[in-house]
Amino acid sequence: MAVRGNFSSKIGFIAAAAGSAVGLGNIWGFPYETGAGGGAIFVLVYLFFCFALCFPVMLTELAIGRKSGRNAVGAFNALGHKKWNFIGKLGVLSGVLILSFYNVIAGWAFGYTFEMATGNFAIAEQFGDFTTDVFAVGSYGLLFMLCTAFIVSKGISGGIERAAKILMPSLIVMMVSLIIYALFLPNAMTGIEFFLLPDFSKLNLSVVFNAMGQAFFSLSLGMGTFITYGSYISKSDNLVSSAALITLADVGIAIIAGLMIFPLIGFVSGGTLSGVGRGPELIFVTLPYIFGEIGGTTGSIVGMSFFSLLCFAALTSTVSLLEVPVAYVVDEFKISRTKAAWLMSGIVYLIGIPSLLGNGYSSFFTEFITYINATTSTDFLTFIVNIANDSFLPLGGCLMVFFAAHVWKKSNLDAEIAIGFEGYEESFIKKYLGFVVPFLLPATLAVIFMMIVLVTFFGL
Ligand code: PHE
Repeated sequence: MAVRGNFSSKIGFIAAAAGSAVGLGNIWGFPYETGAGGGAIFVLVYLFFCFALCFPVMLTELAIGRKSGRNAVGAFNALGHKKWNFIGKLGVLSGVLILSFYNVIAGWAFGYTFEMATGNFAIAEQFGDFTTDVFAVGSYGLLFMLCTAFIVSKGISGGIERAAKILMPSLIVMMVSLIIYALFLPNAMTGIEFFLLPDFSKLNLSVVFNAMGQAFFSLSLGMGTFITYGSYISKSDNLVSSAALITLADVGIAIIAGLMIFPLIGFVSGGTLSGVGRGPELIFVTLPYIFGEIGGTTGSIVGMSFFSLLCFAALTSTVSLLEVPVAYVVDEFKISRTKAAWLMSGIVYLIGIPSLLGNGYSSFFTEFITYINATTSTDFLTFIVNIANDSFLPLGGCLMVFFAAHVWKKSNLDAEIAIGFEGYEESFIKKYLGFVVPFLLPATLAVIFMMIVLVTFFGL
């Protein structure tokens, strides 16, 4: 077998894994989902899902990956259950689909970095024109994909780990500086209240589903990212503490993003928070407007820092999204990593073109599909989000946990987690896994998956 490479240290692995988790999901997705989902109540449900349900899924993925030492598909073969490798294939497909649209949004963030640098705050009113300028936006996306492919082609410790160790700390420094700035603006506190004080009357099923989907996506679960990354870590690492650190980092950055954005919205709306629920455009429309209010060179610098940090966060995620299919072809088809990285990124870029065109440029892709019982059409990018993020990830997570508990067997899962964790046998976490993994977790995920499909595609 070709040399697979490894993370050179635990801290390197944590940086890369947290880098995968922390991305557009935290800084773009989490605030707009929170805004649309009624504020702090959404945050509460999201936190519950992250720790109670997602954390065991992450542990399961890491254990499968480290035990097998293979990619998301090969892992199932290596454990002696080739029939179940369709779970990994579903994961590779999810990775390809997610990266295809993720890269488009990352391209927007990349473009906005330049717009802010030149002081073009008017972009706040021209978001629609910006996304329909497909040649410009497509070129930003292309550049972004090239960076991703370059890092992945350099391998695990030389590429992925090295990039994450620089990008992740820079991200944190930039975000904290922005929070400090934001907190001192007039009306900042109305935003903070919205974000931190739950209004239980806003709790409903759609809040629950969206929080669940957001937790899965944000933690990079259900498509074999952590099977793949887990295959590059050492037997002496403690999987439980690693998974805990990754989850805390991810949740922590989402909260930091909220603390940064909601005071800004409080400020710009004069304390009314109008527009807070506007959805995916939130950061692309509201924020540049705020940076424009700040104005001048300061506004430019603040805006540029924000969007460049968004790009950093996105880059460590696109790297992991590309790594899943790349590891698969490298391991299973014996293609060199360099070739695999460039080839796969090219394919994914092409698959992303309809998502690029479906934001106003092509009416075919903009009004791509009308779901059963729906009154309005859905664009291509959202269609892929609905399939890959909302449906495939919970389904993949459900299947992986079911596989670990009943096919590979819970005792093998425990044995792998116990390596590198001395007191595992007597630990609370072992009892908790024993309680959720065999039945509760796969059943909950299966129900959530079915409900999401019924609600999204059949309008029930
Ligand atoms: N977790 C990443 C984010 O929040 C997205 C991602 C999903 C990355 C699935 C890898 C796998 O942006």
